[in-house]
Amino acid sequence: MKMSELEKSLESSERGAYVSRMFDRIAPRYDLMNRLMSLGQDQRWRRRMATLAALPPAGWALDLATGTGDVAAALLQRDPSAHVVGADFAVEMMRVGQQKGQNGPITFMAADGLALPFADQSFDAVLHAFLMRNIADIRAGFREQWRVLKPGGTVVCLEIVGPAAGWTRTLYHLFFERIVPQLGKVVSGDRMAYSYLPQSVLRFPDPERLSRLMADEGFIDVRYERLMLGSIAIHSARKAE
Ligand SMILES: C[S@@+](CC[C@H](N)C(=O)[O-])C[C@H]1O[C@@H](n2cnc3c(N)ncnc32)[C@H](O)[C@@H]1O
Repeated sequence: MKMSELEKSLESSERGAYVSRMFDRIAPRYDLMNRLMSLGQDQRWRRRMATLAALPPAGWALDLATGTGDVAAALLQRDPSAHVVGADFAVEMMRVGQQKGQNGPITFMAADGLALPFADQSFDAVLHAFLMRNIADIRAGFREQWRVLKPGGTVVCLEIVGPAAGWTRTLYHLFFERIVPQLGKVVSGDRMAYSYLPQSVLRFPDPERLSRLMADEGFIDVRYERLMLGSIAIHSARKAE
């Protein structure tokens, strides 16, 4: 079965199990692949996310789909007084993150982004990098994030998006559809996982549509910026006071 067919055939409940197993498999080489695929830029994007989160002093932040904890670390680097929870359903990814022991205490927790184990209004900011392409239900995911945010809190969402048109689009297809799967095979030994990546970008909403989805789920002041020749979008928005 081809990758795209396999993906389409997954029901939403199976999809979560498929995605978490995939990330558990690639956990040991995940960070290295990120650095290579982003040409060394990914940590800069996470620092930008931490800035956009605008946490108050000693504020509470949730790094959802924390993986190996790099967004959480960027938050603590920016403000060591922050209380940062990193949550993910791929436990092996978080184990790698724990071993890195980076930039202060991150509280790692196993959790599904579609049913967060936190009370309403728990966090000043919810951030996530590379989550929404993988989640089975985008609207339900944003609804959960809205629920756990305090009034006035901020959500920051980073994702890979297809660039609009022109030569950057050609370059993008060449890179993500030809080079990345090969790189994934060599570096992580898992061509399948890195073939899944461009497939998941193709069916992901463009930044304008994603903004509308966020607004539909109750967020206000939705805005986004594009980075890396337009192939990365960072959306940010607030929950009304
Ligand atoms: C591409 S990794 C991103 C990791 C990290 N945010 C980063 O910046 O590198 C995607 C992560 O999302 C997690 N994930 C996907 N769907 C999830 C869900 N429904 N609930 C919790 N975690 C999820 C995966 O397990 C994986 O660790």
